Amino acid sequence: MSTTADAAKQGDLGANGRHRMLEIEHAQLYFPVRAGVLVDRTVAHVHAVDDVSLQLQEGHTLGIVGESGCGKSTLARCIVRLLEPTSGSVRFRGTDITHLGRKELEPIRREVQLVFQDPTSSLNPRKRVGQIVGGPMRLHGIEKDKVEPRVRELLERVGLSPEHINRFPHEFSGGQRQRIGVARALALDPRLIVLDEPVSALDVSIQAQVINLLDDLQDDFGLSYVFIAHDLSVVRHVSDYIAVMYLGKVMELSPAKQLYDKPIHPYTEALLGAIPIPDPEENRARDRMVIGGEPANPLDPPSGCRFRTRCPRATDVCAEIEPPFAEYSGGHLAACHHPLSVSQEEIAGATRSPLSPLSAGEVMPDGRQGTRGGAPGAGSGTAGSGTAGSGTAGSGMAGSGTAGSGTAGSEAPSATERDEQGPAADGEATGS
Ligand SMILES: Nc1ncnc2c1ncn2[C@@H]1O[C@H](COP(=O)(O)OP(=O)(O)O)[C@@H](O)[C@H]1O
Ligand code: SF4
Ligand SMILES: [Mg+2]
Repeated sequence: MSTTADAAKQGDLGANGRHRMLEIEHAQLYFPVRAGVLVDRTVAHVHAVDDVSLQLQEGHTLGIVGESGCGKSTLARCIVRLLEPTSGSVRFRGTDITHLGRKELEPIRREVQLVFQDPTSSLNPRKRVGQIVGGPMRLHGIEKDKVEPRVRELLERVGLSPEHINRFPHEFSGGQRQRIGVARALALDPRLIVLDEPVSALDVSIQAQVINLLDDLQDDFGLSYVFIAHDLSVVRHVSDYIAVMYLGKVMELSPAKQLYDKPIHPYTEALLGAIPIPDPEENRARDRMVIGGEPANPLDPPSGCRFRTRCPRATDVCAEIEPPFAEYSGGHLAACHHPLSVSQEEIAGATRSPLSPLSAGEVMPDGRQGTRGGAPGAGSGTAGSGTAGSGTAGSGMAGSGTAGSGTAGSEAPSATERDEQGPAADGEATGS
């Protein structure tokens, strides 16, 4: 719950002097799977997000990347509180928003916005652009005569003509529709925008334009972004930090440049190998690791390291012990028993990060025992430092393998989600 003490923490500075915009600690979201003819009962859980700890500083972009189904959208919905995490916590500017109710979330709804992947289905085809972009303003009680001028201003700012205010979504191209979605997200002067695969549905040539727009808006308005993509090429130039997710867990978390220059986790390397190089000869010549098969079943994830069923480097220890996050120099974290790209000296110098999942073991990459719970706030500047560790490790909050609150617990959360979020995010969605 939000407290005065929490509010006072809004002034908290991260290690590099920036304000902490977002802190996710050991967040877990399990979807119950129900079955039964006469009695509806929970028979299993989808481990959609499983003990994820991340942090984002003001004005920065955190890229989140991973294959379809790894939990990116579920995590996004936890961040904007369309879903309530099963366990763990989400703090926005120092305020714990994990379990806030609808009324308490109202001010947060203005400041945290979500932009969806598919601009076609996220814009109501029966509404004019003016109604779509102005919807959140009307809902939040902004005076009527102020709405239209503001909508025109926003349309212009996202590269559309203010004259298009009376058009319908189908009169625009895909890229233009996504610009409308961005204008709607900007309507209430947010601080944080969670962009869930904002360019995945667009042609490559249009993708760059929308990414450039987002980049400019970030500079102009001091926005912070969580930028989700299934492909490492998309987030490369926009992210300060990147988290690579696999089957509900973060595998590697690193300053963006380091992740591309020096991937430590075999899964990251495989994702990088999937990015085509423009020169066909260079493309053919490079030695890339290709991951075979499909991700394992999220209802019954593999023991130990979740990637082990597809990893060419897997050994017995990978099945027995979940690797903790080893923190290498420069705040580069990876959860792997047999890391790539690091020397023996670097391995010996790595420390066990407090961001490690609570279910992770103590064994570090060189086989030595890590020490649980290192000093919160030590180490890396951004994504890592100080988010976890403080009073959370060992608290039984996560890792218990059970589903919790039942908030997320429906096969059809979208209706509830829309209801709860209001038009600031999803209210224009079709089919509702
Ligand atoms: N409402 C839901 N009920 C049950 N399972 C869900 C629901 N939404 C997503 N899932 C499952 O959770 C996992 C993560 O999904 P999602 O967060 O959409 O992944 P991504 O965005 O990375 O593609 C997948 O296995 C998906 O099938
Ligand atoms: S811990 Fe083992 S299975 Fe997992 S990524 Fe590393 S080498 Fe592969
Ligand atoms: Mg998704």
